[in-house]
Amino acid sequence: MMERRDFLKVAALTGAAIAVPGLEAAASSVAGSGAGSASAGTGSVSGSASAGAGVARYADKPVQKFQFRPDGKFKVLQFTDTHYIAGNPKSERALKNVIQMLDIEKPDLVIHTGDIVYGNPADAAAREIFQPLVDRGVPFAVALGNHESDFAMKREEIFEVIRSIKGNINTPMRPDIYGCSNDVITLSSENGVEQVFYLFDSGAYLECLGEKGYDYIRHNQIEWYRCHSETITAANSGKPVSSLAFFHIPVREFCDAVRDTHRDMVGVFCEEPCPSRYNSGLVANFLEKGDVHSIICGHDHDNDFVLKHGNMFYLYGRFSGCDNEYNNIGPSGARIFEFTKGQPGYRTYIRKYGQDTIEQDLHLTRGMSHILATLPKM
Ligand SMILES: [Fe+2]
Repeated sequence: MMERRDFLKVAALTGAAIAVPGLEAAASSVAGSGAGSASAGTGSVSGSASAGAGVARYADKPVQKFQFRPDGKFKVLQFTDTHYIAGNPKSERALKNVIQMLDIEKPDLVIHTGDIVYGNPADAAAREIFQPLVDRGVPFAVALGNHESDFAMKREEIFEVIRSIKGNINTPMRPDIYGCSNDVITLSSENGVEQVFYLFDSGAYLECLGEKGYDYIRHNQIEWYRCHSETITAANSGKPVSSLAFFHIPVREFCDAVRDTHRDMVGVFCEEPCPSRYNSGLVANFLEKGDVHSIICGHDHDNDFVLKHGNMFYLYGRFSGCDNEYNNIGPSGARIFEFTKGQPGYRTYIRKYGQDTIEQDLHLTRGMSHILATLPKM
């Protein structure tokens, strides 16, 4: 078990109610579809939400909408913890990994779950690490990490830089929702929405509350999720729609799950999950709404496991970074999610840099009882 690293640098997260120059003008745009010609667009949630009036206002934050490719597939590639520093030779490995993963997997959408940049100038670092996506016309969204605001740019400023990069689909931050990168992405067929991806900004540090430690997902973010969840469920004749949640810092339920002596786990577990010391109830809300069945995080570089605990799948991405930060589990890589039109659940696997084979090739469905039982017998 690796000993957890200390905080390297502390930056106060000042909250979301900060005016950002050009915020409204810098509308997100989708550069084009990925290699498989999935289509995307932006719209607002409409319809008669069952959400109460107190939270209905959150539904006016736009939803990014994708369609399955003509072959009925849709592939999401997750990068996490690239820790990129512009012009730093130690960062070369991260850039090579991004290029190789894109060229092999040809995703329809990339989700980066944070710790994207790791030094000044942060804006140049963000542009360089996402340039391979720009070059290939791959749309992407980010869920910011704790290190994004460690450098000379404020969290809101680096978020706006990322939003200005061609292909980014994050929607503008809202002063009434904590953090920057809170987004809803839907994947639809002609039969309606089949999958929903929620991105949360899990913040940085607790200095804004006068404490040390990692931040947590706040209650207005949970209300924002509940509003969209209720609206999407209502539009689906009251049936919850299969949903996955992506964010950087794991929730405390990851710790409970790995301590379960009967844990059902596939993949690498080489460090204790390192969440905030506070649990704001996000997972309980997911279970209550009955739609989010999978939580995907980054942050802990030496884990890439899939774990089922209760009615929730807990997944780590594969460290996609370089040697600017700790990493002890071998080659960088990415986690892939593949969805098939009309089929429940999803396929997920890990691809590592420089390797021809994939690992953890799993098909996860909401009702499955055990992950390990689905693996081929050796
Ligand atoms: Fe990291």
